[in-house]
This record gives sequence, C-alpha cells and structure tokens, in this order.
Amino acid sequence: MFEHVTPYAGDPILGLMDKFANDPRTDIKVNLGVGVYYTEDGKLPVLECVKSAESQIANPPRPRGYLPMDGLPGYRKACQDLLFGKDNEAVKAGRVATIATLGGSGALKVGADFIHEWYPNAKCYVSNPTWGNHISIFEGAGIEVGKYPYYDAATIGVKFDEMCEFFKGLNENDVVLLHPCCHNPTGVDLSNEQWDTVLTIIKDKKLIPFMDIAYQGFGDDMDGDAYAIRRAVEMGLSVFVSNSFSKNLSLYGERVGGLSVVAPTKEEAERVHGQLKFTVRRIYSSPPAHGNAVVDTVMNDAALFEQWVGEVYEMRDRIRDMRQKLQDTLSAKLPERDFSYFTKQRGMFSFTGLTAEQVVRLRDEFAVYMVENGRMCIAGLNNKNVEYVANAIAEVLR
Ligand code: LMR
Repeated sequence: MFEHVTPYAGDPILGLMDKFANDPRTDIKVNLGVGVYYTEDGKLPVLECVKSAESQIANPPRPRGYLPMDGLPGYRKACQDLLFGKDNEAVKAGRVATIATLGGSGALKVGADFIHEWYPNAKCYVSNPTWGNHISIFEGAGIEVGKYPYYDAATIGVKFDEMCEFFKGLNENDVVLLHPCCHNPTGVDLSNEQWDTVLTIIKDKKLIPFMDIAYQGFGDDMDGDAYAIRRAVEMGLSVFVSNSFSKNLSLYGERVGGLSVVAPTKEEAERVHGQLKFTVRRIYSSPPAHGNAVVDTVMNDAALFEQWVGEVYEMRDRIRDMRQKLQDTLSAKLPERDFSYFTKQRGMFSFTGLTAEQVVRLRDEFAVYMVENGRMCIAGLNNKNVEYVANAIAEVLR
C-alpha cells in the first residue's frame, strides 16, 4: 500500500531540536540551532506582559467557541498597527486585508495558496540563502521557486548590484520574497537607502513584494524594523506581509501570526480578504483562540503594550551583548581572524561561515548545536556558555 512512500529526511532546523533533546551531555550542551530566544539562565521566557494578559483571560474562564476564520478583530488591528504604523493612510482607507494565521508559516502558506490561485503563472524568488521553509511552502503551494543573489560571503554584506540587476530581469507579477529586518539565516539586512532602490525596481517592474517579518523589534526597534513595509505602502505598492509573534511575544507554540495584503482600493481589499478567509477555511477553518486572545489583550492595552515593547528590547539588548562577548572572546583567541561580523549582523542569527564539516565537529565533539549551513542562533548564548562556545569554535577553526 505505502511501498512508494519515500522516507522524510527530516527538517534541518526542527530536526536539530530532537537531536539536542536526546543528547545526554546535559552538563555542557548548547543549543544555537532553532531561532528561539533563551534567557541568561538558558530558559524559554514567559513574558511579564503575557503573564498579565493570561491571568486576565483566565478570570473568569472564557468559553472556547470557534474564532472567526480571520481571527479576532483586536488581533488583526494589532498586526496592522505594528506593521504599518497606527495612523497609516492605507489602513485608515480600508485598503489592508489582515487575517490571523497559524504562525508566520501559516501566513506564508495562506499567501502562497492565494497567489497560486490568482496569479497562476507567477514564480517566486527567494534570497540566496533564505529560511529553508520559504522554499518548501511556496513549492508546496505549486509555485516554482528561484533564488536571487543576496549574501556576499566575501564582504559579509549584500550583493546589492547583482540583486538589483536580477530583479530588473523578472516578469510582471513575479513574487519576490523579502526579509524586512533580521534576515534569516544571515543577519545581514539592507540599509534604508537600499530598500528605496529595491522597492523602486519592484514598482517599475510590477513585481509582487512578499515581506516576511518574524523578528520585529530585534533589529533596530519596532518602527525602524518595519521601514521597508511602510515605505512600500507609501510608494503605492500592493504588498503581502506575513508576520509572526512567536519570537517577540515568546509564544512559539501558540502559533500566532498574521497575513496582511495591501490593495489599491478598499473594494479590492475586501475581495482579497474574502478569498483569504476561503483559503483558511479549506486548510484549517479558523485560528486557535488562546493565542489570539493573548495578543489582542497585550497589544490593545496601553500599559501592557508598553511593557511588551520594553521586554522585546531587553531580549534584543541581551543578544547584542552576546554578539559582542563572542566577538571579543574569539578575537582574543584567534587574533589573525576577523570576527567583526558578529556585531555587524542583526537579529537572532549570525552566519558564521563555518563549513558543514566544522558544524558537525562542534556538535559531535563539543555538544554545540547550530544549523549545518553555519547559522548560529546568538539568542542561545549566555554568560555561562559563551566562553565554552568560543573555545569550541576556535578549536574547529584551528
Ligand atoms: C528558525 O528559523 O529557526 C525558526 O524560524 C524556527 C523554524 O520554524 O525554523
């Protein structure tokens, strides 16, 4: 019956979580694989604003009816305020269709299905490299996926001219998947001036920008990290935005994300919104209630919102501190090498340039886990393990 079913090779990121959990070297093992923020104590935090919201929600306990297909209105408003800014003209004009989704992955899936349905000839182009699941999700939706030049290992920067030339050669309605901040996996972002140039090309060539923002608040700040999104809207572009609250609310398992589509008119936005709901209906019907309620409560209460922003910036600053410590420690150990990339890159990730062989050695010999493409999640470092990790890296680089 299932003779033809091939084995699943496993996911290069999520598969590492199992390997790490099963590693018996509990005294030394360090998880720098999956993009998850851990505290200085190596714990997954429950944010204070989330604790307050959850006690409000629990008292009195709420009945658990189905949510609307597109999620709670307050949740959708929260996505819009955060992504586009509170007084955004497009939002006020009703030109933005926003739905709650099952995390950022769910937003990408609903967006990809929508694009495949309404732009059947569109291809999707992702940065080289990108988060592996971008490729899987778009291909899974029946869309052909290509790669545009992005990361430049020689400069630890962006192959900006090549990227622009590539975009100029694309066809109308081709989708370009962009990371507005904290590029995953490289940590290398475009400057605002570079965004202006790229968005002008996108507009001229009538491409469809699909912006995936999973780390808002971890780069510069909430507003600065949304620059590309807001600029695109200001320029009159019709843009898709997938967002995630997994990291900035530390609500990974609640599957809290959103998909927003900015349309040229209110009427078009309403039709798009309807089709997004239909897409949700035929995949999973409606989003989960608890995560929607937590996000709604935190984001629409002025005091909890302020507390939340402060908590995100604490996480951001601790990651920055770890970047500096790792860079300083490694530079002291191997002075002939340049480790300044650790503090130049932004967000949770650092693209280390370590080879797959070196990454495997780190795992096997030192119980230090990172993704085989050399991506390290800096948010797994703390003052107790940073020296150990630096020693291990220095060892495999020698
Ligand atoms: C990551 O890139 O590690 C995270 O986005 C988690 C995931 O689902 O891969």
